[in-house]
Formats: sequence, structure tokens, C-alpha cells
Amino acid sequence: MEERRLGPVVGLGTWNTFGGDATLAREVVGAALDARCRLFDSSPMYRGAEASLGAALGGARPQARIATKIWASSTDEGREQFRRQVEWFGRVEIEQIHNLVEWRGQLRWLERDRDEGRVDMLGVTHYSPHAFAELADALRTGRFDVVQLPLNPDERECERELLPLATELGIAVIVMRPLGEGSLLRRSPPVEALRELGVESWPEALLKWALSDERVDAVIPATRNPAHARANARAGDPPWFGSEERRLVERLAS
Ligand SMILES: NC(=O)c1ccc[n+]([C@@H]2O[C@H](COP(=O)([O-])OP(=O)(O)OC[C@H]3O[C@@H](n4cnc5c(N)ncnc54)[C@H](OP(=O)(O)O)[C@@H]3O)[C@@H](O)[C@H]2O)c1
Repeated sequence: MEERRLGPVVGLGTWNTFGGDATLAREVVGAALDARCRLFDSSPMYRGAEASLGAALGGARPQARIATKIWASSTDEGREQFRRQVEWFGRVEIEQIHNLVEWRGQLRWLERDRDEGRVDMLGVTHYSPHAFAELADALRTGRFDVVQLPLNPDERECERELLPLATELGIAVIVMRPLGEGSLLRRSPPVEALRELGVESWPEALLKWALSDERVDAVIPATRNPAHARANARAGDPPWFGSEERRLVERLAS
């Protein structure tokens, strides 16, 4: 699998997947690891997924890069979330501020934890274009290393300001919702079109569409199905789509 600034380009999202089900987590995380995925995204919002992810990684923890989040309206609560993450993961490679909640306050103490080596990189996330102006303001502070945003053929608002800004500032980009939370999978394009794209499945085409934008460092498709985790990892191998192939995916998705 190709590696960019955050390692192998296909990771695993954990929203609405295994939650607190540690057995399912072991199967899904094990399949993702076997398929060379290394980036695991989670959050205190994801109903027990952090604890299950930590347990599922077990002895493979050193291979993984944990990208979790602080989602708290007070700094005391934020610090408590981090304390529990350290119990589950030992440390956190990428700590993101979820949905910009209380980001200025959380950033102050998180920077100290990064400086003291308990966190490698700081990130910030939002799913809604209504918040993109504030997300851009946060990036312009120069205090974030990573941004997480939605990008798929139906959600391209980040292309206007955020992706150029991330490139200008040298900020790594994680793509959430690369499959449109599953909504883009309702249609299944003809096999000939997939063959023309050189892919085995429609999810693979969509993931490759996002990764073919060289400003993107990683996609984090979520799944509760180990076979889907393995299939999604295939999207991380070049060759990447050129502009014609990207346009074909856009037409197939519309
Ligand atoms: N949604 C948000 O607003 C949001 C916000 C912040 C962060 N994130 C992060 O970004 C991650 C990804 O976004 P997302 O979970 O919203 O949506 P997504 O990854 O775009 O789509 C997930 C959906 O796609 C299905 N799927 C995945 N691989 C498949 C395959 N190979 N074949 C068929 N179906 C497949 C999953 O169902 P199966 O389980 O059946 O595979 C699930 O229903 C999240 O998990 C989270 O870590 C999301």
C-alpha cells in the first residue's frame, strides 16, 4: 500500500461500527491490520469504540497510528478523555479536536502534551461546510498538523478553500466519509465501468477517487465487516486515477 505523510493511505474509521463489541472489533481491526492498514480513527463520541479498538490492537499496538479525538465542552472533561485514551492506547499519535468543540481551550493543554511527547501531532475536524470558515481560521493559527474533513463525489466543498490552505500550510489531510456514510454505495455501476477504472469494486473506485487527489494523505472508510476492510485496503495501491477516470467516477456517482 502506498504511504504518504501519515503512513499507509487507507486507514479505518470506527463511527457506527463495532462500538463496545470487543469481539467484533478484534475481527475488523485484525482484517485491517492484515491488509496493511495502520491509521485508526476514533472518538469518545463513538460509543465505546476507543476501548474496543485498544483491546483489539493488543500486541499489534506498536504498528498502529491512533488518530482519536477530544470531544468536550470543558478542558477538565477533555483532559479526562485524554487520560482514558492513554489507558487504552498508551499514547496517541494524532489527537484531533472533534467538530471544533472548545478548540482554543483544548489546544492550549494539548500543545503541552505534544511538547512533552505524549502526542505526536495535533489535528482538528469538522463534517459540515457551515463550519469550514472556522476550520480554516483554526488551520491559519499554524498550530495544527492535521485536518480531517469530508471528501467524496457528493461532498466537495473542501476543495474550494480547505485543501488549498492545507497544502499551503503543509497540513496533512485525513478524509472522513469517503463513501458518503454508505449513501454512495446504493447504486452499483456496471462491471464494464469498473473494469475501465481498473478496480474490483465500487467502494474501491470511490476510495481511489479521493486518494487520487494528491493533497489527501489518507482515507478512513468505516466498516463493521472484516471482508469490507480487506477490500477497501486494495484502494491504497497505485496507479491513481487521472482526470478522465475521476470524471467517470463522478458521473457514475451522480
Ligand atoms: N460521519 C461523520 O460525520 C464523521 C465525522 C467525523 C469523523 N468521521 C470519521 O470518518 C470515518 C468514515 O466516515 P463514515 O463512517 O461516516 O462513512 P464512510 O466510511 O463513508 O461509510 C461507511 C459505510 O460504508 C459501508 N462500507 C464500508 N466499506 C464497504 C465496502 N467495501 N462494501 C460495502 N459497504 C462498505 C459501511 O457499511 P459496512 O459496515 O456494512 O461495511 C458503512 O455503512 C468515521 O467512521 C469516523 O471515524 C466521520
